[in-house]
Parts: sequence; structure tokens; C-alpha cells
Amino acid sequence: MIKVTIDGVVQEARVDERLVDLINRVGGTLSQVCYHPQLGPIQTCDTCMVEVDGTLQRACGTTVAAGMHVETASEGASAAQREAFDRILGNHMLYCTVCDNNNGNCTVHNTTKLLGVEHQEIPFRPKPYAVDDSNPFYRYDPDQCILCGRCVEACQNLQVNETLSINWDDPHPRVLWDGGSPIGESSCVSCGHCVTVCPCNALMEKSMLGHAGFFTSLSRPALDGMIEVVKGIEPETGYGSILKVSEAEEKMREHRIKKTKTVCTYCGVGCSFDIWTKDRHILKVEPLDGPTNGVSTCVKGKFGWDYVNSADRLTKPLIREDGRFREASWEEALALVARRLSEIKARSGPDSIAFISSSKCTNEESYLMQKLARAVIGTHNVDNCSRYCQSPATAGLFRTVGYGGDSGSIADIEKAKLVIIIGSNTAESHPVLATRVKRAHKLHGQKLVVSDLRENEMARRADLFLHPHPRTDVIWLSAISRYLLDNGLAKTAFLDEWATGLDEYRKSLEPFTLEFASEMTGLPADTIRQVAHMIAEAETVCILWAMGVTQHTNGSDTSTAISNLLLVSGNYMRPGTGAYPLRGHNNVQGASDHGSMPNMLPGYQLVDDPEVRARFEAGWNVQLPTTKGLDNHQMVEAIHQGGLKAMYLIGEEMSLVDSNANYVDDALAKLEFFVVQDIFFSVTCQFADVVLPAGPSLEKEGTFTSTERRIQRLYQVFEPLRGTRPDWQIIQDVANHLGAGWSYAHPSEVYREIASLTPLFAGVTYERLEGFRSLQWPVAPGGEDEPLLYTKRFAFPDGKARLFPLTWTEPLARVGETFDLHLNNGRLLEHFHEGNLTYRIDGIREMTPNVFVEVSPELAAERRIQSGTWVRLISPYGQVRLQALVTDRVRGRELYMPMNSIESAVNRLTSSDADPVTNTPAYKDAVVRMEVLGEVGESPLPRRNHRFGHPTPRRGVEVERKWQRADYHPPGHAVLLQIENKIRSK
Ligand code: SF4
Ligand code: SF4
Ligand code: SF4
Ligand code: FES
Repeated sequence: MIKVTIDGVVQEARVDERLVDLINRVGGTLSQVCYHPQLGPIQTCDTCMVEVDGTLQRACGTTVAAGMHVETASEGASAAQREAFDRILGNHMLYCTVCDNNNGNCTVHNTTKLLGVEHQEIPFRPKPYAVDDSNPFYRYDPDQCILCGRCVEACQNLQVNETLSINWDDPHPRVLWDGGSPIGESSCVSCGHCVTVCPCNALMEKSMLGHAGFFTSLSRPALDGMIEVVKGIEPETGYGSILKVSEAEEKMREHRIKKTKTVCTYCGVGCSFDIWTKDRHILKVEPLDGPTNGVSTCVKGKFGWDYVNSADRLTKPLIREDGRFREASWEEALALVARRLSEIKARSGPDSIAFISSSKCTNEESYLMQKLARAVIGTHNVDNCSRYCQSPATAGLFRTVGYGGDSGSIADIEKAKLVIIIGSNTAESHPVLATRVKRAHKLHGQKLVVSDLRENEMARRADLFLHPHPRTDVIWLSAISRYLLDNGLAKTAFLDEWATGLDEYRKSLEPFTLEFASEMTGLPADTIRQVAHMIAEAETVCILWAMGVTQHTNGSDTSTAISNLLLVSGNYMRPGTGAYPLRGHNNVQGASDHGSMPNMLPGYQLVDDPEVRARFEAGWNVQLPTTKGLDNHQMVEAIHQGGLKAMYLIGEEMSLVDSNANYVDDALAKLEFFVVQDIFFSVTCQFADVVLPAGPSLEKEGTFTSTERRIQRLYQVFEPLRGTRPDWQIIQDVANHLGAGWSYAHPSEVYREIASLTPLFAGVTYERLEGFRSLQWPVAPGGEDEPLLYTKRFAFPDGKARLFPLTWTEPLARVGETFDLHLNNGRLLEHFHEGNLTYRIDGIREMTPNVFVEVSPELAAERRIQSGTWVRLISPYGQVRLQALVTDRVRGRELYMPMNSIESAVNRLTSSDADPVTNTPAYKDAVVRMEVLGEVGESPLPRRNHRFGHPTPRRGVEVERKWQRADYHPPGHAVLLQIENKIRSK
């Protein structure tokens, strides 16, 4: 700590602290228009000028030094701040009372007030550009743009989409998209970072416009008239009294705009933010300081919520009668569910009934679902969709380090010196997490290696892109482990102290020579060696992986190989290291954590452990079955075999997202009784006997657990839509109709019970999760959590990690003569999974209306295909008709299909082959043949899609270019000179 004097008071400061942060921390009231703590100093506005030891300096661009004397309100500093702000007002018309941004957080408004501006010296000059309305979600008004550059900095260096810049050399600078394209034709991915950080109304969410203010829905001529009146009286009254009127209007807004904290319902990154609503209208999503995301979002979290108000929400229970659905009362539907489940249980036993939880639902709902299965029906037949994606990663970590979760936080990934991404399209599937890697790579020298079949965005950015043959990652990973051990590059001291099983593991590595790896993967031996050296030389390494690894018949083994390699290279137990299986759905981690698994009770406690069972039996006052139940892959098989008669499914589109969907549909059709609980009439509902109308996350309370094991609370934004109920209430209603006698009045009561039975969550309470607070499990009874796991020991009784021997297993599906193409699949940035939610967002549907199959330029030339050509893909399991998109993201005979489609779902083509350890289907191991159908339409991806844009990478705002303008001079120097002269003349 050092001492710095601020306005005559000595303050303690950290050596590397920014002066502006120090001033803010000690309660100063310094103007600072362009400064945003999460963006760092941009230095474009000059309103933070202070006198530092007699010299004017920008407080945001100055680091404190011992003994510094700072005056924030001296004559010179005040004059400089006023002069700088006056220049800003020359770029921005103050019409706050009729502005949708007049919500108490407008930096321009607040700075006008702070500096006591009554009249502006520099008159407002409109810029010679039209408003840009071409993006479906936000608009840019150049006339209101103060050229602070926050948006540019956010786009270039936080989101790192590199779309925005400012043409500082132009006589009339403005913000540019792709150097001058309309927004809607640029590379903008609509992540909303720029809109969120804009300090005024230049960038606004369209959902705010005309809705936030009391006068803002007036017609343009009426608004212009009011603005003219206000401008007319300003010379006489000054801004002070005008601002009072706008502040009165702002206060009135407080009563009708509700701001509610929630957690994103799409991917597993766990972004949290406030949602601003007026009645049921969503005004905007406002990320401020989420523990994971700060101000960051992707298009789905920022703009993807209107499905909640979609006209086709289910609002009445439905009962199938004579092959058709009819509406029913809740009482009738619940009574029917209870009667039929009781009958089937009495006739065929509890294990003839199965339950599938939703990874879109809350932890409390997952807990209640498995409690319903176990404690009320008496079966362990309960699972969730992590079986379809993440179970192999969990298995790999259980085998080697003990906990089935990310070993650190996203902050650790950002810190790592080397990040390796395997089988994950991170920029599209985990967009905000990807921004942290892109940022570290662009700004902080982080190295990036990507292994994928497809040259996705992260692959294009990588220092090294590996394209191994499908399903062979386990080979090159194991070969690197062997190479490190053989060449004295392994961290043997770490292994000696912290790992067991080295001898057996080494033996298992014998086949994995570089030559073998090269032959099997198609990667040059030198490339594999290069990666080995990068790992050995990097101080800290994180490995990220996702469904490109797990959805293979060797998904568990590849996940194990990743963890083995991290152990061999000593990359556990330290910040910036570890294993990061990226969880797909928002609460896929939590659904498993909270017991919706056939072999584990909440907190990964085994159902065949008598001590565990006894604890739950005492807590629930029931007898529990002693053997594990069926997972959801086995459930489908058991329906076909006739043993499974009834199923209760929540929020899961099995009919589209299960592998070999046609086979799954046949199974669903065979069920004697099928209950589906959802917010829409999904494709799966067509097979149901009873459909129960549930609630989306915005209509309930509870908690979600994100990929970094972070538990966060969500609060109710809207009352449940009339006729619907939150899932936790429905599960309780079903349980009570079966005689359970549950009486949870709120999800917090459910969590209290979870914590009392589950050591992993012993210290989790709603109070500790209040607002934006969060906890990363395991949470000790006193509330201490573990953002970084294994800092003291691994999660095994002896505290040591276990190196796990592996063998190479041949693939079941191979490209051959009949099926000559390999088909890969995955998520698209704009859509989530099958698209049941995102296809209901107009702007998203506009940008990505249809599914397509990506075809390499080589294959396209060979088969005379162009973007827009209709083709039929045929696999041993089904066929789909769709359009081709020719792109060099894929190579040779490898195809790629996004998952988002109802009509042409990729899972009509995938098989029932599965990873033998976890039964996770091998979604990514599909083989197909392609028929070219002769018709050619428009490209399935509209030209306006961001993928056709041309980003303009910059270092950031590049304020130096502003300072070099002939018309720029730092503010306040004239005043300082006058003061100096005055002093001299005395
Ligand atoms: S990508 Fe688009 S929405 Fe995101 S920060 Fe850049 S310009 Fe703004
Ligand atoms: S549009 Fe960008 S440069 Fe203009 S005021 Fe907003 S954040 Fe600043
Ligand atoms: S990155 Fe994931 S959690 Fe964050 S806003 Fe996007 S979809 Fe939501
Ligand atoms: S806040 Fe320091 S220059 Fe803008």
C-alpha cells in the first residue's frame, strides 16, 4: 500500500491502482463519462481531468504513485472537466424527458447534473448520418453518439467480435460496423455488449424504444415539437430546471418498471443479469456485474426472451381421448396422472415407471423429481439429459480426480497461459466463456490450441488448429502423455506427491507412440510433438472440452485421457489450470448434482451405499430400493422390451434431441401412459397421454448451477401465465395426488432439505445466494465454497489423484461404400439446441431461419452442389431433406449439421450406439450418404447473417488517432496557463 493525497486527504492506495478507481473508492464525485471499470481506461472523453502534482491528467489513465497530490476540484481541473463535457454535449442533444434512456443511469444526464451545467458553450451539431435500424434487436443513432468509444472497446476487446471502430480521421467521426456497413449486414453477432455499455441513448435496445418513458411513445413530430419547446426555454431557464422535469418523469418510471435478477436459461455459462419489465413486456436485459459475466451476454441471453410471451404457450392441461387432445382442468389431469401411475405401479411394480428431469429446470425441481421417483413411486428410474452430453466427462473426472465438475472457474481459464479446446465450438455454444479466451488470447498473450473436425471461430483464432480424424482425440492425448513421460517432460514430482497408478498407466500407454498416433489421427507426428512441448513449457494449462469429445463411443475414455494428461503435466491444484467440461444446458450440471440420476442420490451419493440410503430414508421417511435404476438410454430400450410402461418427462424434447429419434418415437408410442410437462406443445407431446402446462424460468424462483459449479438464484420476473404452474409446484401436486403429503411453500424450503441431506451443498442457503451472490460447490456448512477445486487434496479418500489406464477401441460406425460421408453436428450461436425457444424469437428466426448441412468446397465441386442446393441425407436410421451450405469450415467428406431443426432434425440420422461406460449416445459418429435433389434455392443462411460480415480487428478505441486530429487539444490547458500567468504576474 502507498499513500496518495486526494483533495487534501491522505488515502491508502494499492500500488497498481488506477487513480479513478481510488477516487471512486474513497467516495469522490469525479465526472468520468467514458470510463467503465470492466473495460478499463479508454481516455476518449477527458471529463476525468484532475490536477496531479500541478499537471492536468486523466484520472482513468493514471496509475497512482506514492506521495502523489491530486486535486479533483481545483480551478484548472474543474474547468477542464467542464470544457471536456461541453464538447460531449456538442455531440448529444439533451431531451431527457422524452428519452427512453432516462432511467437514472444515463451517464450524460448524470454528468450534466454533477457538473452543474446550465448552458453549453459548444452548440449541438447533428452528424450527417441516418439512424441505423437494420439490426433486429438494437439501433444506433449517430446524432446522440458522444464518441466515447465504450462500445468499440467492448466489441473489440471484451466480446472480441471486432466489428466496431471509430473513423477518427473523418471530419464527422461516428461508430462504424465492419468499417461502414449497415449493422444488419455486418459481422455483428448481436451480443449486446455495445448496447449495454453505451452511456447514453445512442445505442438502444429496440424493446425499450417507445416503451420505457411516459412520453416516449408519442409520434415523432410530437416528440420533435416537445424537444423544440424545451430547447427554446433552455437559454432562459438553464438545464438545471429542465433536468428537474426529466427527473420527475424518471421517478414516475420507477413505479412501473420492475428490475428483477435472473440467470440465463440457455447455456451453461451462467450469465446473470437484471431483466427490466413493464407488465409482461420485456424492456431489456441489463447485465451489470454478474459473477461470471460482468456486462457480457450473447444474443440469446440479451435478446432471446420473447418466447415467454409467445401466443402458443400451453395454458391448460391436455388429456388424450380417442386419439385427440382435449383441454382439462388441473384437478382432472392430476387425478388422472395419479390414478394411472398407481394402477401401473400396482400391476407392474414401481420399476415399470420412469422419470426424466429437465436440465432447463431448477435444482429444486430436479431434486423434487427424483424424490417423486424414489420416495413416492419407489424406483431409481430417473435421469436427465446430461446422459446425452456430459456424463462421459463426469465419468472421466470421477475416475481420475474425484469430482464431476469443472476443476476451477472461468476466471482460471482466462488466467491460463495455454488453453486447449477439444471438440467444442465454444464461441457459439458457450459464447461468453469464449469471450474470456478470445480476450486473453488477443490482449494477454494466452496461447490457444484447438482440436476439432470443423474450423470454427476458435479454431480460426488458434495458434494451432488440429484436425484429427473423427473420434481419435484419445489417441493424440495419450500419445502426448507418453511423450512427456518418456522424454523427462512430465511433472514427476507432482505425480509422486499427488497421483497413484503411474506404473499401470504407463504400461497402458505403450501402444500410443507418436507414429501410431500420427497414423490413426492423421496429424503429423511433429504437430503432436509441438503440442506436447507447448504443454510442457506452459506455466499453466486448462483443457476445455464438450460434446465433440463426449458424444462418441469412447467419450468417457477421451475425457479420462484429458484428465490423465493434465495430471502428467502437473496442471491441477493451481489457479489457471485444470479440466473444464463445458456444460451445455443452463442447469445440466445442477440436474445431475441434485440427484436426477439412476445410480446417485443428490450430491453424487451412491444409491447402493447403505449409509447414504439410510440418511435419505430417515429424511424422507420411506424405504428406498437398493439397486440402481435405468438411465434414459436404457429406458428407451426397456420400453421396446415391454418392461417400462409409463414415463413422466419434464421439459425435454426427446423426440428431436434423442439420438436415433425415429427409434425413440417408436418407443414413446408404445408407452401405456406418458406424461409430458412443458411450456409449449413440443413434438414429444404428440406421444403424451397427459400434457401439463409448466412455467419458464422467468415465472419461478429457484437456483441454477452453471458449468463452473456456480449456484445462483433466480427470482420471479412474471406471475405464472394464467393456467400454468411452476414445475416444482406441479411435481408437488402430482406427488400429493399420489398421497405424498408434501407441503413446500417455496423453493427455499426445498433447498433447506437438500442441504440437510447432502454434504456437497451443506452450506447452501438462499440467504447466502441473495441477489447476485453465488457459491461454487462444494459448500461447507459454514458457507465456504471452492471456486478452485483440489487446492489441498484430490477428492478421493487418500487425497490422491488416480492415473487411469486406457486402451483404444475401434469405432462402431465407419464411413464405407454405402454410407460414404461422416456427419458431425452441434449448436449454432443464435439457436439453442433444437430451437423450441429460439425459433420463437423473431430476430433470431430472421437471421437463421432454417437448418442446413455444411458441405466442403471439395465435396461441393465433386457433387455439383452450391449453397441452396436441396439434398437428402440418408443414414441407416432415417433420412432428412435440407439445403446445403458450402463452406470451408468443413473439409473433404465430413459434413456438419446444426441441431436446430424441428422438421429435419439431425437425430433422424444418428444411431443408438453409445459409450459403454455411461450409455451416452454417439451423436457425433454418424455416417450418411447424400442424394442431390436437383432443386436449388436461396442460400439457407440469409446474406444478412453475421457469418457473411467482414470484421475489422483493432487494438481497441485507438484514442491516439483522436488526439492526433488537428482540431483536438487537451481540455483545460488554456485555463491552467491563465492561472500560471496570474501567479507569475503576482
Ligand atoms: S458484436 Fe455487435 S452487438 Fe456485440 S458488441 Fe459488437 S457490434 Fe455490439
Ligand atoms: S454508441 Fe458507442 S461511442 Fe457512441 S455514445 Fe454509445 S458507447 Fe459511446
Ligand atoms: S453465454 Fe450462455 S448463459 Fe451467457 S447469455 Fe449466452 S446463452 Fe446465456
Ligand atoms: S473517464 Fe477518463 S478520459 Fe473519459
